[in-house]
Amino acid sequence: MKKSGEKISMLTAYDFTFAKILDEAGIDIILVGDSASNVFAGNETTVPITLDEMIYHAKSVVKAVKRALVVVDLPFGTYQSDPQEALRSAIRIMKESGAHAVKLEGGIEVGESITKIINAGIPVMGHLGLTPQSIYKFGTYNVRGADKTEANQLLKDAENLENLGCFACVLEKIPNQLAKKVSIKTQFPLIGIGAGNHVDGQVLVLHDLIGLTNEFNPRFLRRYMDLNKTLKDAVSRYISDVKSKSFPNKDEMY
Ligand code: KIV
Repeated sequence: MKKSGEKISMLTAYDFTFAKILDEAGIDIILVGDSASNVFAGNETTVPITLDEMIYHAKSVVKAVKRALVVVDLPFGTYQSDPQEALRSAIRIMKESGAHAVKLEGGIEVGESITKIINAGIPVMGHLGLTPQSIYKFGTYNVRGADKTEANQLLKDAENLENLGCFACVLEKIPNQLAKKVSIKTQFPLIGIGAGNHVDGQVLVLHDLIGLTNEFNPRFLRRYMDLNKTLKDAVSRYISDVKSKSFPNKDEMY
């Protein structure tokens, strides 16, 4: 797709029903993101989600998918400490969920883990820029790579990920011009979230795109629906029908 200039579409899903809708709609890549920690489990960060929980989500998604590529996030703490553990975690995801690839956050510091996983035949997608698993190091969810030192490091990390054999890389919340530089220096597909328009594809969290989450409003987010309001309206009407005894009516009974 990159070679032919066709942009790559990627969205998150954590369950069977949404994954089926995305797949049938023609999405290219479904990411079982560790954003499930925030969006699905209600945690403040992506740090607490476990490998078992990610596998549970991934299994549900894989059952629904007939054509899209399914990529699963390795959660925090399952690949940073040593390459053997990283490989064991990736193998568990592949064997137990049936997904097609894993994604992990970080640059040179996780290089050995990436090599180990790729050598075992598991495709790896990188993730640079804002890496939410490191929130307690950054302290904020602000744009990354805005200063020269961080931008240069990101460029090096991207080249390194490509050399290690990552098949693609997510660039999260970095300046458009930095993403452009990465795209000039590398050949592998770059999927942006808040990384502008020089990348090869875009990814968003589905719950944000459909407006289920309505308190998260970064500049990069384009909302296509206000499902939060639509659902609340539907639930209010249901409550009022139950209270007024207009539900169920004669046609809705046996
Ligand atoms: O977990 C996630 O949803 C992600 C995307 C934001 C890229 O990593």
